Amino acid sequence: MTTKKLFAVFGNPIGHSKSPQIHAMFAQQFGVNIDYLAIEAPLDGFAAAITAFRDEGAGGCNITLPFKQVAWELADNRSGRAEMAGAVNTFRFENDGTIFGDNTDGVGLLRDLTLNLDTDLIQKKILVIGAGGAVRGILGPLIEQQPKTLMLANRTVAKAVELAKIFSTIGPVEPCGLNELNDEQFDIVINGTAASLSGGVPLLPEDIFSDNALAYDLMYASQLTAFMKWAKTHGAGRVSDGLGMLVEQAAESFALWLGEKPDTEAVIKVLRDG
Ligand code: ATR
Repeated sequence: MTTKKLFAVFGNPIGHSKSPQIHAMFAQQFGVNIDYLAIEAPLDGFAAAITAFRDEGAGGCNITLPFKQVAWELADNRSGRAEMAGAVNTFRFENDGTIFGDNTDGVGLLRDLTLNLDTDLIQKKILVIGAGGAVRGILGPLIEQQPKTLMLANRTVAKAVELAKIFSTIGPVEPCGLNELNDEQFDIVINGTAASLSGGVPLLPEDIFSDNALAYDLMYASQLTAFMKWAKTHGAGRVSDGLGMLVEQAAESFALWLGEKPDTEAVIKVLRDG
């Protein structure tokens, strides 16, 4: 826990981040004053931007695309879940000047699925699509829920194989290529590819969803994402973007810095209605 009051999210680009608004609402819940900035770090200047921010007296920061993997390298110490993920989305600047790195993405997704979307993972057939930084952050907590099957499909199959191997110490993950997904239906399909960023959809079989399946996009946007639209027209019972996950991971970060766990439901509602 820190008594410092300056925080930020670092990314590139960072213009449309909702994190400053989210953390301002959290702080309000506890009557504390914090400054939470959105800082665009140069693509080749992440480490310098972080150390300068720490030296200004900041308490910590969030890290988003494309810096989660370099953030992992920069951290002096890491939580177990960040260690495994190979990606860090939260730094806490310790009083001795060292940087503690955590990854709250996975627990944020899990809380959104189970608490906000009322979706248990136990005994479910889950498909995760993608094998980049976003997926590294969520695999561990998903495996820990002991789903019936957890399949990891990626356009480049070698990356899925590599990730499945890393995470096999927690539990079974079946890697495959996108083109190998045939004749199998899933209860929860999570899109963790970067395709959404450019309005695209990964190439999936048309009958991928089981009855009443949930299609979840780690991305969020003011309208339905391309993946959510595709899912709706291909038999998914429910679709969700990653806004709830964004708020939940932010709450975990806030707690890591300030020792207080915010009410997320109220904040999600404001963002959805806003
Ligand atoms: P991030 O940190 O957001 O995960 P990344 O590390 O660049 O970003 O990973 C991007 C992921 O999206 C990868 O799994 C990528 O597939 P490849 O490994 O085959 O490149 C996936 N991806 C990006 N665009 C895609 C598309 N149009 N269709 C399917 N997968 C796509």
